[in-house]
Amino acid sequence: MLARVEAHGAHAARLLGDASPAEREIVLGVLRWQLTLDHLLAPHLRRPAAGLDPAVRAALRAGLYEALRMRTPVPVAVAEAVRVARRLTPPAAGLVNAVLRRAAAASWPDPGDAGAPLAVRFSHPDWLVERWRSLLGEEALATVLAADQQPAPLALLAAATRCEELEAAGCRLVPHAVVPGVVTVAAGAEAAVAAIRAGRAYAIDATAVAVARALPAASGLTADLAAAPGGKSLVLALGGSHPRLFSADRNLGRVALMRRNLAGCASAPALAAADATAVPLRRGSCAAVLVDAPCSGTGTLRRHPEIRWRLRAEDLAALAAAQRAIVRAAAPLLAPGGHLLYATCSLEPEENAEVVAGLDLEAVPVGERLPAGLPRRDLPGGGVVVPPRPDGDGFTVHLLRRPA
Ligand SMILES: C[S@@+](CC[C@H](N)C(=O)[O-])C[C@H]1O[C@@H](n2cnc3c(N)ncnc32)[C@H](O)[C@@H]1O
Repeated sequence: MLARVEAHGAHAARLLGDASPAEREIVLGVLRWQLTLDHLLAPHLRRPAAGLDPAVRAALRAGLYEALRMRTPVPVAVAEAVRVARRLTPPAAGLVNAVLRRAAAASWPDPGDAGAPLAVRFSHPDWLVERWRSLLGEEALATVLAADQQPAPLALLAAATRCEELEAAGCRLVPHAVVPGVVTVAAGAEAAVAAIRAGRAYAIDATAVAVARALPAASGLTADLAAAPGGKSLVLALGGSHPRLFSADRNLGRVALMRRNLAGCASAPALAAADATAVPLRRGSCAAVLVDAPCSGTGTLRRHPEIRWRLRAEDLAALAAAQRAIVRAAAPLLAPGGHLLYATCSLEPEENAEVVAGLDLEAVPVGERLPAGLPRRDLPGGGVVVPPRPDGDGFTVHLLRRPA
């Protein structure tokens, strides 16, 4: 899986669909700590790790991760990595054995050691550390980097989950500290995962729930234009304050998934496979529009750790162009007095404030529509950045209104 993520651009979360908790921990842990692991392996390699076969690199990283972070006895971690290497690239088995035996004697960098670079202590690429330093400031930077290194807890939307059934099956569900209606699975994750697969529970990030609820209530038509797999539509449908909901996404496979996810709703939304730049809705027909735009995902590095190794600063311009096309098409759908909520799980201004700038709409401060305890940074234009935290993804949100 690690080699496929690195060499073929696969998404770890998708590959891990049926994985065991241990496989999940190794794959996500290695991706999360990749730079730190490479830093510890480098002194023991004759040539840079970048020149190795991806499968060999993966075996080295996984072996070292198991030895230093999972408390697997060193001989066991090394033997396992050698076994994997022998199967995938037999000539490299000796190298994996020799390098890991030496590297496993290293000590893990102390996160509080100001003498070591932040990139090494928190395993983020230098360019992202520097970008966030100037964007967030030193203190918030350290908090965000540390949050990205923690595994995301499994959180469920209580209204779409048979909580009593789960508790009877041995799950311990704890209400989220800040976002009402979200419960975190504190024990018994296997039963919760089985319930999610069977459609008896819905997994969702707590910040995503808070963001969806920031869209003001509307009795007229509400359009969710980048809606799949349907998490925010589900929050709106179950909340009862958007009774006429239309949810569209351009990806047909994801619309099918959304249909399954929304099937249990008493008032399920109307669904369509449609590009947000050409939805089959009339100008001025919507009381509310939600655009949860496709984005770089820099607020979700806990959950999707490989994003940090893939993304380049240059990619932001293309993402912003696609986002701009979507909001430019969404704004005319609003009736007078109607609201457009624009959100991304990205922390980058190019994908957020710069995308909504210049629209023919007025900005509405959105911070007061989020739960009071949610950490946030208010932006000058009324938008809000919610930084990633151990109990929620990072998001940026803007609320706009067509003058009445
Ligand atoms: C961030 S995800 C949406 C998540 C969803 N709102 C939820 O809460 O479950 C972005 C979605 O935008 C869709 N998308 C990308 N470009 C699009 C476009 N031009 N028109 C419509 N949907 C688009 C993707 O298929 C993806 O499902």
